[in-house]
Amino acid sequence: MVSSNQKNTASLPYIFKRTKIKIKNRTVLAAMTNKQSHSNGIISNEEINWLNERSKGGFGIITTAATNVSTEGQAWEGEFGIYDDIHLPNLTKLTSTVKSNGSLIFAQLFHGGLRCPQKLTNVIPISASKTKCQESKSGFSRQADINDIKKIINDFTSAAVRCVDAGFDGIELHGAHGYLISQFLGTKTNQRNDEWGGDLHGRSKLLVEIYKSIKNSVPDSFIIGIRISPIIESIGINLQDTISLIKILKTFDLDYIHLSCWDSFLKYDYKNFSKKTITEIIRESFDNLPTIISTGSIWSSDNAQNVLNQGADLIGVARVGIPYPYWPKNISDINYNPKKPPFSIETLKKAKLSKVFIDYMRNWKDFVID
Ligand SMILES: Cc1cc2nc3c(=O)[nH]c(=O)nc-3n(C[C@H](O)[C@H](O)[C@H](O)COP(=O)(O)O)c2cc1C
Repeated sequence: MVSSNQKNTASLPYIFKRTKIKIKNRTVLAAMTNKQSHSNGIISNEEINWLNERSKGGFGIITTAATNVSTEGQAWEGEFGIYDDIHLPNLTKLTSTVKSNGSLIFAQLFHGGLRCPQKLTNVIPISASKTKCQESKSGFSRQADINDIKKIINDFTSAAVRCVDAGFDGIELHGAHGYLISQFLGTKTNQRNDEWGGDLHGRSKLLVEIYKSIKNSVPDSFIIGIRISPIIESIGINLQDTISLIKILKTFDLDYIHLSCWDSFLKYDYKNFSKKTITEIIRESFDNLPTIISTGSIWSSDNAQNVLNQGADLIGVARVGIPYPYWPKNISDINYNPKKPPFSIETLKKAKLSKVFIDYMRNWKDFVID
């Protein structure tokens, strides 16, 4: 609990270390796929309105939903993309409206890998290795060859350059949650024995090469972050590898690492750490880190302060930002603890969710009530 005389720091400004770009507070709207956009990848007005409302609500950083960098990297219907210049006009509308409210705006760049349904993309899902794959008609993904890998790096880079053109302040590489980049990182999904697999250096090479290629192609002031999942047992990502990955990432001029914790309060025993959260373990394992964003199960201002006290520089929220677009404006009140789900359709409509998004939220157990 944050005691009433303890300072609540979530509403204080923050300055990114390398670029010196200032954020008005420590709150980040984490990426949320919402399926509201057009089948040609153009972001819809509904999706722009949803993000704009959260920038009006005071989020320091607005992150877009996962946005596909190529048609074959699309994982959901209604996902917007950034693989063609036709996407630029509406994306420019998004960035200018969000920036006019004083938030920074980052695009989350993404390729779904073996999670891309063949019936949506018309191609066999690609991954680090040939792996069992529900989304493929044959039941298996295809192992990316060197030309595929070059194309993936190129697609991420072109997408990042389009983000610069569209007025984004930065990008977040989606290296979390079991999509393509994390399929390369995971020992169970990456069975390669060439330079793109094997030890962690090999398995992280795709991520590193994407990062380097983008870095060489965007202005110095452009923010580049990477979102990772510190632990995904099902694909073979563990905390020890994550610490080693961060050691590798630290050698670059990376602006931030976003830890997707799902539950930021879960405690682990790890090496000489006893009953510590992931944020604490990562923070205490290094002297000097890029900006750290931690996300997962933050709901109240007490939760937010707890995660900042664990060592996060910025806190990300997803679900609480759905019914409460103005969450950041309340965060300086240390007693702020808004009501938890379920939420009525009326409440969600008022919070600028379209019918498509409300229906999508039915996938989250007991989030929507009729
Ligand atoms: C509707 C919804 C869509 C999501 N889509 C994405 C996404 O596109 N990219 C991503 O990295 N995480 C996505 N996530 C995960 C969130 O960014 C976040 O990490 C997770 O919900 C835990 O944070 P929370 O407890 O504040 O909701 C999504 C979560 C929700 C609820």
